[in-house]
Amino acid sequence: MPYRCRGCGYQSPKWLGRCPRCGAWDSFEDSGAQAPAPGGEPPHPLPEVPPLSGERLTTGLPEVDRVLGGLLPGAVVLLGGEPGVGKSTLLLQLASRLAQRGKVLYVSGEEAVAQVKLRADRLGIAEPNLYLQSEQELLRIVQAIEDLEPAVLVVDSLQTVLARPDGGEIGSLVQVREAAAHLARLAKGLGMVAFLVSHITKGGEFAGPKTVEHLVDATVQLEGVREGDLRLLRCVKNRFGSTSEVAVLQMGPTGLAEVPNPSLFFISGDGPPKPGAAVVPVLEGSRTLLVEVQALVAPGSGYGPPQRRTAGLDLNRTSVLLAVMEKHLGVHVRAMDVYLAVAGGFEVREPGADLGVCAAILGSVRNRPIPAGTVVLGEVGLAGEVRPVRRGPERLAEVAKLGFSRAVAPKGPLPKRLPLDVIQVQTLAQGMEALELA
Ligand code: TYD
Ligand code: MG
Repeated sequence: MPYRCRGCGYQSPKWLGRCPRCGAWDSFEDSGAQAPAPGGEPPHPLPEVPPLSGERLTTGLPEVDRVLGGLLPGAVVLLGGEPGVGKSTLLLQLASRLAQRGKVLYVSGEEAVAQVKLRADRLGIAEPNLYLQSEQELLRIVQAIEDLEPAVLVVDSLQTVLARPDGGEIGSLVQVREAAAHLARLAKGLGMVAFLVSHITKGGEFAGPKTVEHLVDATVQLEGVREGDLRLLRCVKNRFGSTSEVAVLQMGPTGLAEVPNPSLFFISGDGPPKPGAAVVPVLEGSRTLLVEVQALVAPGSGYGPPQRRTAGLDLNRTSVLLAVMEKHLGVHVRAMDVYLAVAGGFEVREPGADLGVCAAILGSVRNRPIPAGTVVLGEVGLAGEVRPVRRGPERLAEVAKLGFSRAVAPKGPLPKRLPLDVIQVQTLAQGMEALELA
């Protein structure tokens, strides 16, 4: 409140000749406080708060929708990814689908409209409701939004928006933050869905835009797996839905396409089982993906410490598992070179793969395959015990659906009438025995 009675402290938004509380005349002075901006909302009693309204917007691409979970009007989505991974391609594809339902404005600060059009042609996109603008000045982008009133806005990318003349060079933290804040406010005010692109560096950190994450409703990341054209769209934060969902997409000549049967995508599937390989059901969001862990154990050179290399698995975790195997299985792997990889360039981020990793390593040591049609699941503890994993029963149910006949898994409750032969084990040694590797 800017005005205050010198006598009794009564506050008023405007100057008054006489205080309504103590009756003093000419007692109001400037309190030094700032008046709140006009507008805003009073506090609501909880039961009277209206629910979020409006139709949830879906893209019609089930894989993408499972990650985004349907977008409410005003939702702001930050899409991160390394340069070249396919962010612009994905957003142009989504923009074209969303343009079938309303106006979409696609602003590129990196490419001329003719370049974007070239990509659109390649993708077979020709929506009349999709508007392209090549612009870097925030105020001109805002002007275009006000003129066009699009239902969906795409800004590609935040690093190419010039938000304020005094904010330093384009792409600076100040520019990026100001651009995100301004566009997010505008999206909320207009009920417009906004996709904001942000480049991330090789380390996986959002460069700068990590600092705008609090301004957006959802943060999704497009990741490429090392080899090939596979892309994972992963939700990092979502105010309106689940954060753990993952979409599996494939980059092809006509852009990103959904992968049929992604659960089986990461295993080779054909031919007899190979020594040193184990199929593991890992959890990505609520989805079970089968991945193949491969190990190669070879005698070390004798010079210097033995080689330890992993791709798609945590190196420290692997060292711990090698020590546990040495101690509890009595296999001598300490002086051997150990190479581990997850087929297809997939990144395994959970301990549920431990038992499978041990099986792959021992399989290579013994030069013996594990029985065909078998999956391996379980976390391995330091005492050589096999521990249950998150959503274990659900994973096994999924494994059964995918045509596998047998699982070696931790002890615990199982789904009723599971069409899968489950051998439950409590120790690493029992696990290896069940896999005929002991
Ligand atoms: P792009 O969307 O430009 O990546 P980002 O915006 O994340 O930097 O995509 C870059 C790569 O995708 C480029 O190397 C070419 C490839 N690509 C395809 O393989 N198929 C396609 O249909 C398109 C449009 C791009
Ligand atoms: Mg791009």
